[in-house]
Amino acid sequence: MFGSKRVWITFGVIFFIALVGAIVAVTLVIVLKGDGDDNEYVCDGSKSYTKISLKAGQKSHIEKFRQGPPPLEGIFSSATDTEFAWINQRIDHFDPTNLKTWEMRYLHNNEFYVEGGPMFVFIGGEWEINSDYLMTGQMYDMAKEHNGYMFYTEHRYYGNSFPTKDICTYNLQFQNADQALADIAYFIEYQKSTIAGMENSKVVVVGASYSAMLATWLRVKYPHLVDAALSSSAPLRAVADFYEYYEVVAQSLRLVSEECVSTIAEAVDEIDRQFQTESGIAYVSNLLPMEKPVNASEPNRSYFFLNLASPFALLVERASGTVLTNACSTLLSYEGTAFEKFISYINKYYESSTITDYDYYVSYLSNPQITSGTLRQWYYQTCTEYGFYQTASSTNQPFKNFGVDLFIKLCDDVFKISQEVLNSGIERTNLLYGSVYPKVTRVVSTHGTVDPWHPLGVLEDLNPEAPVFVINGASHCADLSSISSNDSEEMVYAKTKVKEYIAEWIS
Ligand SMILES: *[C@@H]1O[C@H](CO)[C@@H](O)[C@H](O)[C@H]1NC(C)=O
Ligand SMILES: *[C@@H]1O[C@H](CO)[C@@H](O)[C@H](O)[C@H]1NC(C)=O
Ligand SMILES: *[C@@H]1O[C@H](CO)[C@@H](O)[C@H](O)[C@H]1NC(C)=O
Repeated sequence: MFGSKRVWITFGVIFFIALVGAIVAVTLVIVLKGDGDDNEYVCDGSKSYTKISLKAGQKSHIEKFRQGPPPLEGIFSSATDTEFAWINQRIDHFDPTNLKTWEMRYLHNNEFYVEGGPMFVFIGGEWEINSDYLMTGQMYDMAKEHNGYMFYTEHRYYGNSFPTKDICTYNLQFQNADQALADIAYFIEYQKSTIAGMENSKVVVVGASYSAMLATWLRVKYPHLVDAALSSSAPLRAVADFYEYYEVVAQSLRLVSEECVSTIAEAVDEIDRQFQTESGIAYVSNLLPMEKPVNASEPNRSYFFLNLASPFALLVERASGTVLTNACSTLLSYEGTAFEKFISYINKYYESSTITDYDYYVSYLSNPQITSGTLRQWYYQTCTEYGFYQTASSTNQPFKNFGVDLFIKLCDDVFKISQEVLNSGIERTNLLYGSVYPKVTRVVSTHGTVDPWHPLGVLEDLNPEAPVFVINGASHCADLSSISSNDSEEMVYAKTKVKEYIAEWIS
């Protein structure tokens, strides 16, 4: 009969086992599917992207670019006062009806602070912040001298400071200099109202490269909040075709060895000649670290030639000491013709990684999930605000075959941003911030002649209160480290003058 107790217990046990089984099965499906989901991400239900997992070595090449200011040399403070903290910021500073906020990260160090002392803010750019610039360097030394409070702000969409849950193109709409500057304005106001004795403190901002643009622009836009700025290697003029970049790369290598540049030029010419025929393309591809022959139709052809040039760009941008001399002697020490030497050099540079194709790069830049990478967010800024595309358009340098079209196509393929948007964005940036003619005071600007970015900077004093130091032989942002016995006389002079100007402006 149905009433039998044993039957019901059996049913119960079977039901229980089935239930547990079902839960386990569902969990497994979720876990496994979750794994699969790693490779796909849907942006607000619109388009799905495939996430690419990079092979060892490939990442290191792509990610070597735009890693932030060069590492500092010299003596680091052993004090342990540097700490991370967070501040609430509005997602959109320019829509008064939008009160949504996010948490911006920053570092602070009060090692030298005495109530009423000045506030020194190192402005973060397209990188993750770390404590180095609060433990040594020019700003650190100035904070020590003036009993200042040191900060280092993390720029929105980099490091751990994300206003949105992902970086789908739609969500990158809040990524621009206007928002970043307003973040700093609120940041300064917040610290002044929170830290004892700081209401009337003077404020000094320091920036490197892109963040130096922000440092200068803070004085343009918020002079009532910022008393003085040190702007190191700021490319203030937005431009699509930045052909001067590789001219400086060539000039800098030429200073070390004329033969170095002529060898590169001869090799690139030879590769270009080989590219006239299918068999030539196969021949060259075979000598290089590539998984398959180059597809020599555009944009793959341009992207390939860019990959031959970029190792040298990186070299010059980060040059210090004998780096360039060593690189040129390595290149020239290889056996054979110019072409053979160059091929050996490129192989050595890429080592275990490969030269990838254009589509790979597009996929890499298209990943809308937050990772430790910074290139997608930065590339979005270039497509909408600055350009800064480093091309081989000038004949006054040894590289070939990559023009501004390659980068315009990338804006379109990665973000669906047109050339029209790019050009009007560049025009807008130059109009709203003044390009290399900003009407500012109390900004001291520095540049190095070996820095490929310097052609986009202010290279002459704007006025007596906006002096400029162009330092011979110096590379990108090299003047931000502490004065050292390794510095050239000219470098020591510039660093000393910078400190004098700032001291005067906050006195
Ligand atoms: C000077 O340069 C050498 C070699 O690059 C480096 O090891 C040393 O730390 C530098 N000294 C200072 C004070 O920066
Ligand atoms: C290069 O790629 C394009 C686009 O996929 C294709 O049409 C073309 O046939 C390829 N060329 C070679 C030589 O593989
Ligand atoms: C680039 O080359 C690859 C082969 O390496 C090809 O599959 C791809 O379609 C090419 N891309 C374009 C946009 O032509």
